[in-house]
Amino acid sequence: MSTTDRVPGSHAGAGASEPVRASDVLANGSVPAHVACVMDGNGRWASARGLPRTDGHAAGEAALLDAVEGALELGISWLTMYAFSTENWRRPADEVRYLMGFNESLLARRRDELHDKGVRIRFAGRRDWRVPRRVLKRMDESIALTEHNRRMTLTMAFNYGGRAEIVDAVRRLVADGVPASKVDERAIRSRLYFPDQPDPDLVVRTSGEHRISNFLLWELAYSELLFTDVLWPDFRREHLFAAVVEFQRRQRRYGGVT
Ligand code: FPP
Repeated sequence: MSTTDRVPGSHAGAGASEPVRASDVLANGSVPAHVACVMDGNGRWASARGLPRTDGHAAGEAALLDAVEGALELGISWLTMYAFSTENWRRPADEVRYLMGFNESLLARRRDELHDKGVRIRFAGRRDWRVPRRVLKRMDESIALTEHNRRMTLTMAFNYGGRAEIVDAVRRLVADGVPASKVDERAIRSRLYFPDQPDPDLVVRTSGEHRISNFLLWELAYSELLFTDVLWPDFRREHLFAAVVEFQRRQRRYGGVT
């Protein structure tokens, strides 16, 4: 990726451009219906401050809530956040334990606030034996509380893997007895975790890493990708606004010509 794929105005300090405002973004063009974020860089943010990695995750909560606020200001209907991957179980046991408790307490702390704002909360991922029951319980409570909200759908990708999602869809195809001649993109798509959800228009990954890391592999086929050096705990709605302005500059061709 070239540096033009980075978020403009995202670097604090001398020479940084003015923060982008929601009104600028809305005046500039249409906003993506679905934005997905890889919230990366919490550990590095903490290490740079001499803090344990877990403090970085804790600091990421404010960034998450501010990104949700920003998305609401722009009228973004779908926001998907990568909170824990099927590969993140490989992290040190203490960190995994912390992340399970953190995600549970984050829901307990924030679900009423998100509900009041008209946000529907959903979870994409596997509900397998590794996810503690108390976390599943909190997830179910959050889903039930917010299920009728439609202002925005916030999907937390939790114990999520793009390959696992495709495997699960194929398992459903087989379980449904679909013959090989009837297997097409529609048949697979309709068996993904949330077939009602449009594919992401824009994916933002923070922390300077230029990878997809098993996020939404099927759904990202034609998404615009944007990478920023900002570490997740420093991410604020202005970075989202700047990312959307960059998105508005892109020409999407879906394999055709303009
Ligand atoms: C992918 O990178 C990134 C993620 C799966 C996001 C992980 C995010 C957290 C653990 C913190 C969540 C924070 C909040 C506020 C809920 P990777 O590190 O899994 O993959 P890589 O090894 O390819 O970089």
